[in-house]
Amino acid sequence: MPSTSEAEKAAYNGLTEHTAGLPADAYFDPRQYQTELQRIWYRNWVYVGRSAAVARPRAFRTFELGDQRVLLVRDEQGALQGFHNTCRHRGAALCRETEGLLRTGTIVCPYHAWVYNLQGDLLRTSSKAHASGFEVADFPLYKIKVREWRGFIFVALTDAPPPFENAFDVPLERLDAWPLGELVVGHVLRKSIRSNWKIFWENYNECLHCPGVHPKLSQLVPIYGRGLLEERDDPDWSAHAADADPKYKGGLRGGAATWSLDGKTTGIPFSGLCAADREAGHIYMTGLPSVFLVGHVDYVRVVRLLPLGPEQTELRVEYLFSPQTLADPGFDMRNIVDFTNLVMTEDAEVCELNQLGLRAGPHARGVIMPEEYVIRQFHEWLRTELKRV
Ligand code: FES
Ligand SMILES: [Fe+2]
Repeated sequence: MPSTSEAEKAAYNGLTEHTAGLPADAYFDPRQYQTELQRIWYRNWVYVGRSAAVARPRAFRTFELGDQRVLLVRDEQGALQGFHNTCRHRGAALCRETEGLLRTGTIVCPYHAWVYNLQGDLLRTSSKAHASGFEVADFPLYKIKVREWRGFIFVALTDAPPPFENAFDVPLERLDAWPLGELVVGHVLRKSIRSNWKIFWENYNECLHCPGVHPKLSQLVPIYGRGLLEERDDPDWSAHAADADPKYKGGLRGGAATWSLDGKTTGIPFSGLCAADREAGHIYMTGLPSVFLVGHVDYVRVVRLLPLGPEQTELRVEYLFSPQTLADPGFDMRNIVDFTNLVMTEDAEVCELNQLGLRAGPHARGVIMPEEYVIRQFHEWLRTELKRV
């Protein structure tokens, strides 16, 4: 049996071995970027948006991921169909608009008017005759895998994506106490960040920066003010094991209930949460490479990331509320979004700062410090994905 001190050491989260970061050029090399698009972004489930935006039959929306264009259409039976936004004739884009309602129950190519049904089958061409060997049935739209989960739409640009059940770092049921499917987008923050997409995830995966970069958040979540994510990130954690103070245990400061300017809820708290979820104040689900969800007691934050280029990333934050909260005349959304948008903006700024220094000639790579153990896990995930055949 290990002695107590060995057991305690084993329970320490931090890195105990010197760990190097990724090569600096992994954050700006265009070839590396293309490889990551191909091997990571086009092979995993990527979050698009909420189902409510394409709820009606014949509703459509388009979506760009890297150099791929996706067309999503709600068919007459209610199924969401996904296609490459590309006509089988000579490859024109089928829909130029980002969203809308198809006037007829068909998709008509704006170039030479080939007509497809909403399942993507080619119904007819515009030619006077068909050459022998040409079969209409051989030219359906190129299908894309679509998954709707509790009001969230995901797509995968590969025929064999990983099981959707493994799309997050925790079981899909983790936020089951939140009525995710019924929630409504009440506010959106959109930002273009001048940094590589991996920088965003590295920053997300550590809180060493929190005391300096997020003074307000560090007051709300006292353990963040110590530069730590969790209790056992401190090598001396066992010295405070009996101390319930959130600065050691995590969770929100005393008297606070949610991420907001004053720490108070302004939305109607979700009724089904257990005491532990309420006390934590934030429950995360991370779905690499494109999204994380945070369940707060009165709202859910959905943060989507999309790569726009080797040194450009789009950040989109959706704030989801219950319809009752949005209908409540006393609901003060600013209390929530002004706080959390500040945190997200602070993070975006340091991502840009990180990107700016990476091209220094002598800087071959950085160092991963003990508290940044989740960054190492992220790098391991990255290496596995890049090697996966
Ligand atoms: S490219 Fe679509 S009909 Fe010609
Ligand atoms: Fe941060």
